[in-house]
Amino acid sequence: MTVDTGRRRFLLGSASLAGLAAISGAAHGAGRRWTIPYGSAVRPGLLVTDPAYRAALVDACSIVVPEGGLKWADIRPTREAFDFEAGDFFVDFAAANAMAIRGHALVWAGAMPAWTASIGAAEAEGLLVEHVQAVVARYAGRIASWDVVNEPIAEDRGQPGDLRPSIWLDRLGPSYIAIALRAAAAADPSARLVLNEYGLEHVGGRDIVKREAFLALLRQLRQDDVPLHGVGLQGHLRGDRSIDRDALGALVRDVAALGLSVTVTELDVIDAGLPGPADAIDTVAASRVDDFLGAIFAQKVPDAVLTWGLTDRYSWVPTYFARRDGTPNRPLPLDDAYRPKAMMRVIERYCR
Ligand code: G3I
Repeated sequence: MTVDTGRRRFLLGSASLAGLAAISGAAHGAGRRWTIPYGSAVRPGLLVTDPAYRAALVDACSIVVPEGGLKWADIRPTREAFDFEAGDFFVDFAAANAMAIRGHALVWAGAMPAWTASIGAAEAEGLLVEHVQAVVARYAGRIASWDVVNEPIAEDRGQPGDLRPSIWLDRLGPSYIAIALRAAAAADPSARLVLNEYGLEHVGGRDIVKREAFLALLRQLRQDDVPLHGVGLQGHLRGDRSIDRDALGALVRDVAALGLSVTVTELDVIDAGLPGPADAIDTVAASRVDDFLGAIFAQKVPDAVLTWGLTDRYSWVPTYFARRDGTPNRPLPLDDAYRPKAMMRVIERYCR
């Protein structure tokens, strides 16, 4: 098993985990105050380099998911090798702090290492099944819920079946989704298998088509008796766009009618288009989260609510959606000094 030595400098062996757990006060974390599990995406490397980050996660979260660490780009340095160091470290941290664990993501168009571009059609199914089974089996009984296929729906019109172009769609056609789900079910029959999608909640735009296409895919999978337990509504909300409460509610109702659960998997607010100052941004962001969660909870209580990060200090949003006024983005429930914002109070109202 080859490991990126660069990363080894950051990741301590599991023997150090007991120390980490003791420092972070696992036995007394407030993460257990939730009625509906609330938690966050986690950057495994920061668990070692930023004690305040680690402590904030232990205090706030009763469920976690790796922001990075279990994607193809993280664990498949070559065709032959698996590198589970970051994934193991993350799972050990979560287990040491009695947190429920989600896995992300077994199959995605994104975060694919360069060598996968050379995967041929004849070998594609074998490689896909091998990957899914190896990863799911490694964490069987520890990772309770998997994003098996992340973002299967196309980002723009015109794709066959409205499916998102990927190596897997190109080599295997739409059947790649059922192949991945069946492989995951075989590797860990106890794991809940989820299809995870974004862009399903706003008024107008592409969201209308994505809702219809996502529902059509779910219906087809249920009709074909493919193992599937739930959907992930990512919830990367655009602060400058309204939530379509009726359409989102109808989607959740239709998902529930298919016997599927709902998880809010990656909640945050892309605030690039929101005018400042900070308290005005926070107020609008919290209202979008309230509208989003309100529409969902009115139809079906989610299995869990996870934000895609806990603190504004560490978020993907500034990389792609920096604020035009140059001020720091404010996408998450805690500010960059780990102080709760209005968004956290909204989440507490739904999940405590
Ligand atoms: O770890 C390497 C580091 O060694 C290297 O020096 C550095 C410079 O290139 O890159 C680091 O990897 C980055 C990784 O995040 C870890 O920080 C990748 O380049 C970067 O592309 C990756 O971005 C992540 C992205 O998914 C792609 O995997 C974001 O942090 C993460 O927030 C984002 O999350 C996605 C979900 O998985 C799916 N839903 C949408 C969501 C937001 O895009």
